[in-house]
Amino acid sequence: MKILVIHGPNLQLLGKREPDVYGSATLKQINGEIRKCAKSLGVLVTIVQSNHEGEIVERIGSTAGKYDALVINPGAYTHTSVAIRDAIAGSGLPAVEVHLSNTSAREEFRRHSLTAPVCKGTIAGFGPLGYLLAIEALARGERSG
Ligand code: DQA
Repeated sequence: MKILVIHGPNLQLLGKREPDVYGSATLKQINGEIRKCAKSLGVLVTIVQSNHEGEIVERIGSTAGKYDALVINPGAYTHTSVAIRDAIAGSGLPAVEVHLSNTSAREEFRRHSLTAPVCKGTIAGFGPLGYLLAIEALARGERSG
C-alpha cells in the first residue's frame, strides 16, 4: 500500500509556531515518526509539505495509479479551499484529514472544514499521533477491504 502524506501551509514551522497550540515537535521529527509507523505496517509513504494551494492541488491530481490513499493536513486551506476539496474528491482515493489541534475547540472559522466531507474521516486534537492513527486506519481499511 502506498500513501501520500501532505502537510499544508505553515506546517514547516512546527516546533516554533505557536507551540502552545501545535506542540514542540518539528516537522522533521513528525515525519520520522510517520516513516517509522508506516514501515511497521508495511506501508510505503511519500511525504510532502507545501505552502501553495496550486501545488497541493497538482500533487493530489497526479496521484492516479501511484498511490492508494491520502493523508492530508490542509492547514488553513481546510477552511477556504474548494480547489483542494475538489482535488481530493476527484482523486477517488480514500483520504484522512488530520489536524494537530482540536479545530472544533478553537475559533469559529476553524470549526468548518471544506475538505472533511470528501474525506473518509478526520482526526483532530491528538497532535502528531493523528498522522499515525490516520495511516493505521487506512492500512487496516485496505486489509479489511
Ligand atoms: C491545523 C488547523 C488549522 O486551522 C490551521 O490553519 C493550521 C493547522 C492543525 O493542524 O491543527 O495551519 O490544520
